[in-house]
Amino acid sequence: MSKKYNIAVVGATGAVGQMMIKILIERKFPIDNLYLLASKKSKGKIITIEGNKYQIDSLEEFNFKGTDIALFSAGGEISKKYASIATKNNAVVIDNTSFFRYEDNIPLIVPEVNSNEISKYKETGIIANPNCSTIQMLVAIKPIHEVCKIKRINVCTYQAVSGSGNSAVEELKKQVQAFVNNEKLVSEVYPKQIAFNVIPQIDKFMDNGYTKEEMKMVWETKKILDSNIEVNPTTVRVPVFYGHSEAVHLELEENITANEVKNILSSENSNVVLVDEHKNGGYPCAANECENSNDVFVGRVREDISIKNGINMWVVSNNIRKGAAYNSIQIAELLIKDYL
Ligand code: A2P
Repeated sequence: MSKKYNIAVVGATGAVGQMMIKILIERKFPIDNLYLLASKKSKGKIITIEGNKYQIDSLEEFNFKGTDIALFSAGGEISKKYASIATKNNAVVIDNTSFFRYEDNIPLIVPEVNSNEISKYKETGIIANPNCSTIQMLVAIKPIHEVCKIKRINVCTYQAVSGSGNSAVEELKKQVQAFVNNEKLVSEVYPKQIAFNVIPQIDKFMDNGYTKEEMKMVWETKKILDSNIEVNPTTVRVPVFYGHSEAVHLELEENITANEVKNILSSENSNVVLVDEHKNGGYPCAANECENSNDVFVGRVREDISIKNGINMWVVSNNIRKGAAYNSIQIAELLIKDYL
């Protein structure tokens, strides 16, 4: 009989945690025991996923002994406090927060890009899952970079509210209802109204005037794909529930045509779905293509008419799936295939 594993999901009541459970089921992950953990206030709560009922336990009271893999998605402070408790009990931690991402001895993994780095986890017992906006961009550009080196990326993102958790999804729903009913809009998650608006701030401001989400795209591209690539990001929150979109502008070392890029992206070496037709609707959109998909979609591939060796493209993916939960489960699948 093939081996089964004890899996803990930390943050199991959250947007990403619930998707992790859903994807573990979808992928028929070989699970022996599934421990669903959240804050003390959620202890005993029953959640229903795909018609199955699950009970939530308290993380604070949980004993990680016997857990093989712990999937963390309950915020950086929780990872800071509990990841070491999990690893001391021999669980491998796959952390979806940014808490460990920039530590040299902790691998930061997008399986389609740098799965060869996974073995480094043995040093600390921790593998970090990158930021959602970085993951989809790197999956899209990796096969291009292999053929023609990318020097610089200019990227603007259009990011869904689910990236800020369930409370942000609720805030957008309530604001849309309030707007329609001519009532006052209440903003608690975001600094300005998100309904019928576009907010050029994701995460906190850094000393250099960029936001942390923007700097994540810089740091993580360098750590995962190539430290020589320069990134110029602007990250923006838009009133979309699920799916991040990105306008990606590449500057390459040599000339490459849009058709050559499309051939690369539709080849076996690529892990994207190319949706690129020059007609109305011939491109991927968050609310259409990526609603229930783990894929990264690319469209609008064009030569940049303003610079030499430039390529423009549009990249869309479900931020909760490929941008978070699915990427973590892919890492878990690599772990059980080669290491556990
Ligand atoms: P809880 O529902 O008990 O607060 P989201 O990203 O959608 O906001 O979800 C955050 C997740 O992190 C939830 O599952 C939440 O659980 C969990 N969480 C927050 N604080 C704690 C804590 N102190 N201990 C364990 N889990 C926590």
